[in-house]
Amino acid sequence: MTVRFDRPWYRRPFAPSPGDRLCAAAEIGAGEARAFTWGEGKTAFDLILVGTEDGPRAYINQCPHFKIRMTARPDELLNSDGLIQCAWHYACFRPVDGHCVSGPVEGYALNAVPVEVRGGAVVIGEPEPAAVAAESAARAESAA
Ligand code: FES
Repeated sequence: MTVRFDRPWYRRPFAPSPGDRLCAAAEIGAGEARAFTWGEGKTAFDLILVGTEDGPRAYINQCPHFKIRMTARPDELLNSDGLIQCAWHYACFRPVDGHCVSGPVEGYALNAVPVEVRGGAVVIGEPEPAAVAAESAARAESAA
């Protein structure tokens, strides 16, 4: 039996490693966003870093609608309401949890990438243990 599952962020080509520095924490306040890219071409790893009142959050820059990059321009990541907005069909996502609150994929969410503030810098965090366990179980089932 074949089990299909989305590849978790840390298994994607060019994925950054836990501890990789994104920017100084002071450079990403609430209501601000930055884009980062590792690699190039169709398999490039595109990340959106957004500041919230609860600290920085990061998501893969890939809209759940057509699974394409939401925008290539960092200055277009947030709309006037402070939501992450896809430039193609205007799906809007909450910065704090990546959930879509309007548009064609309402109810879906962006793929989160853990980030943390360490030594005054925003760095890539460790994969969630539960996500790693779920991925391992899915791989084992698809290999059976
Ligand atoms: S591709 Fe993002 S809303 Fe359609």
